[in-house]
Amino acid sequence: MEWYEFYDLAERDMELINPSSPEKIIEAGKHLGLKKGSRIIDYGCGFAEPLVLWAKHFGISGIGIDFRPYAVERARQKVRDRGLADRIEIVEGKGAEYEVEKHSFDFAVCLGASFIWNGYRPTIQAMRETIKPGGRLLIGEPYLLTKDVPPEYTEAKGVHTETELMQISIEEGFDIGYMIRANDDDWARYEATNWEGLTAWLEENKNHPDRQAVIEWFRKTQDDYFRFGREYLGWAIYILRPV
Ligand SMILES: C[S@@+](CC[C@H](N)C(=O)[O-])C[C@H]1O[C@@H](n2cnc3c(N)ncnc32)[C@H](O)[C@@H]1O
Repeated sequence: MEWYEFYDLAERDMELINPSSPEKIIEAGKHLGLKKGSRIIDYGCGFAEPLVLWAKHFGISGIGIDFRPYAVERARQKVRDRGLADRIEIVEGKGAEYEVEKHSFDFAVCLGASFIWNGYRPTIQAMRETIKPGGRLLIGEPYLLTKDVPPEYTEAKGVHTETELMQISIEEGFDIGYMIRANDDDWARYEATNWEGLTAWLEENKNHPDRQAVIEWFRKTQDDYFRFGREYLGWAIYILRPV
């Protein structure tokens, strides 16, 4: 099993793959300034839930990119089912390798996928090349609640505090114009929906050759959340407006 296939199992009952909610995604769209005809590029689009919500509520069109075949298949099916195939295109591939016409989108989005470029700063640098002058960025990103993190919490490596996110944004030519934070319930729902997907799969696959690997991955991620995640990590959606 490839590493990303663990996520396919965990996310089987999810539509949004981040610790927010449909209401918060719509709220983000409102503050971003989405309107009928806005063109969006969404990097690491997952199951295309944000694009579909924004198409329904604001009349946007756009492109979503994801490298996982499972996510792309589900996203394309959803777009077809909602009658949005003429407005939303789903591309399979690596976000950093996907070539777009420079400065051709109104908004660029990356919700929970800044690892596409290896961090928050390079994500801003890459995405600002895609937006028209005056365009805005929407980035969903984890942040550290404190710098004092135990070294064994390796997931925290490369994660910034919110003060650092603010400073990086300014250095790269943007102000954080709005933010929507994940609360405790959002986090719990997101984590628990992953566990539900994995435990359901384990119940249904008692003799699968990858069963042990799935058990180990599940227990490691759950342990990380209980031991460290709740105490050290936050997540928020930031709206970046050009200075
Ligand atoms: C945490 S999920 C977020 C999905 C979606 N943005 C959402 O909020 O529902 C991150 C997504 O990024 C995708 N991804 C990871 N690496 C990628 C890459 N190099 N290029 C494109 N997509 C990638 C994963 O397959 C996954 O669907």
